Amino acid sequence: MTHEVTTRPRRGGRVGTAVAVMLLAAACASATPEVPAGPDGEPDPVLVEGRQIYRNRCAGCHGGAGEGGRGPRLGGGAVVEAYPDIADQVAVVTDGRGGMPAWGGVLDEAEIEAVVRFTREVL
Ligand code: HEC
Repeated sequence: MTHEVTTRPRRGGRVGTAVAVMLLAAACASATPEVPAGPDGEPDPVLVEGRQIYRNRCAGCHGGAGEGGRGPRLGGGAVVEAYPDIADQVAVVTDGRGGMPAWGGVLDEAEIEAVVRFTREVL
C-alpha cells in the first residue's frame, strides 16, 4: 500500500507537520466498521464472523474499511455493483484472480460466505 502525500511548507511549522503525520497514520489504519444491530437488536453473528475474517485476512490488501490499497476497493457498495449475483463474488474469493489469493483451501464455504456477506452488507 503506497500513500503519497505532498506537503507544502506552510506556517503551521512543526506542529502542522506532526498533525499531518497523525492524520496520515489514522488514514492508513482505517477502522473496520462494526456490524450494526439487526431487527432483533443483535448484530447478525454471521456478519460478526465475516468482519473478523475480513480484518485478519483481507484488510491488509483491501483496506480496513474496504477503501482499497493493493487490492481494489470493496466497500461503499463496490462489490454489489461489480457482482450483482453473490455467487460470482464467492467464486472470485474462492478461486482467486491475478494478485488476489485463492481462499478456497484456507477458509471453508461458510467462512467465505460470511466474509463476502460482510463486504456486501456492512463495508
Ligand atoms: C495479497 C493481497 C490480497 C488479499 C490478502 C486479499 N485480496 Fe482480494 N484482491 C487482491 C487483488 C490484487 C485483487 C484484484 C485482482 C485482479 O486483478 O483481478 C483482488 C480482488 C478481489 C475481489 C474482486 C474485486 C472486483 O472489483 O472485482 C474481491 C471480491 C476480493 N478481492 C475479496 C477479498 C477477500 C474477501 C479477501 C479476504 C478473504 C481478500 N480479497 C484478500 C488482493 C488481495
